[in-house]
Amino acid sequence: MTDRIRDFLRSRRDDGPCMVLDLDVVRDNYASFAKALPDTRVFYAVKANPAPEVLDLLARMGSCFDTASVVEIEQVLATGASPDRISFGNTIKKERDIARAFQLGIRLFAVDCEAEVEKIARVAPGSKVFCRMLCDGAGAEWPLSRKFGCVPEMAGRVLEQAHRLGLVAYGLSFHVGSQQRNPLMWDGALRSASTIFKDLAERGITLQMVNLGGGFPTKYLKDVPAVKAYGQAIFRSLRKHFGNRIPETIIEPGRGMVGNAGVIEAEVVLISKKSEADTMRWVYLDIGKFNGLAETMDEMIRYPIRTEFDGDATEPCVLAGPTCDSVDVLYEKDPYELPLSLEIGSKVLIEGTGAYTTTYSAVGFNGFPPLRSYVI
Ligand SMILES: Cc1ncc(COP(=O)(O)O)c(C=O)c1O
Repeated sequence: MTDRIRDFLRSRRDDGPCMVLDLDVVRDNYASFAKALPDTRVFYAVKANPAPEVLDLLARMGSCFDTASVVEIEQVLATGASPDRISFGNTIKKERDIARAFQLGIRLFAVDCEAEVEKIARVAPGSKVFCRMLCDGAGAEWPLSRKFGCVPEMAGRVLEQAHRLGLVAYGLSFHVGSQQRNPLMWDGALRSASTIFKDLAERGITLQMVNLGGGFPTKYLKDVPAVKAYGQAIFRSLRKHFGNRIPETIIEPGRGMVGNAGVIEAEVVLISKKSEADTMRWVYLDIGKFNGLAETMDEMIRYPIRTEFDGDATEPCVLAGPTCDSVDVLYEKDPYELPLSLEIGSKVLIEGTGAYTTTYSAVGFNGFPPLRSYVI
């Protein structure tokens, strides 16, 4: 929590939960990535937080952008960034969206199967493609291990087909899982990537780029290694597997770029028990899974929560959101310790909420408005 956010919240007059994001923290995070991985281009994962102020700042600092849809591409172009700083990184795209992106000047696309390569060859001729490999995501708090990518052997074939169809077989990508707390987890994927580079070189296809994905963590309740440790581990693996022929590399940080820049202020709506004898309090906030805290799904992301009663005696409680949906419970399997002195109407501050909150918020489920966002 920065002084600027604290001052902003002190003077805030409007009602309801909100997320306040401090651009100075994003600026520092970008500088840390640039320093820790000096030969690597940063493609900010727009999905983490597409606020125009964030995109403008990162565009001014020289960042490139990983986008998931035509709307995200347009949001980045609105900053004045040129299309050669944008990749269409979603492996699942409608052909007409690929065509629209091509019209807008995008020439870098992600694929993970031959059908997607065919679409790109038809409507975005001559573009560069990189193929996403499956990655098991062990050790990540938010795994991305099944839906995207193909096995490394297939990635080679997909890129060969791209080459045959007149596209530039540009490279490989993988994602070690979001909130990856182990910097060594890039090693196995880089080993697979180097094997594919060699196999394709023997067939006359020279790959140029490895996209190292996201996965760089932000601080929630547990400590995380500094980005410098990730830079060092990745560089060691690149040397080990590629020797003196280290390819061009890019990273796509989302959570690690904006997570710690945001704080949500929310309010306790109700504190109750389920019977006279019940020892477990239920604490209901005016924010839940449908208006910003979707990443508490399966209790995967556990946010630090501050209250004005910190320091008082605590007891575990079930923490839940305000909607009439019984899945709108944040922490129950592993109840959350909150002060016994917490009262209905108390404000709570939920830290580390700059990424994957505002954009996951429903438009109006149960009539609750989308999470309000202030960028300062
Ligand atoms: C293709 C791609 N790149 C980057 C990211 C950002 O990952 P993270 O927030 O872990 O940095 C994601 C997250 O879903 C992604 O799908």
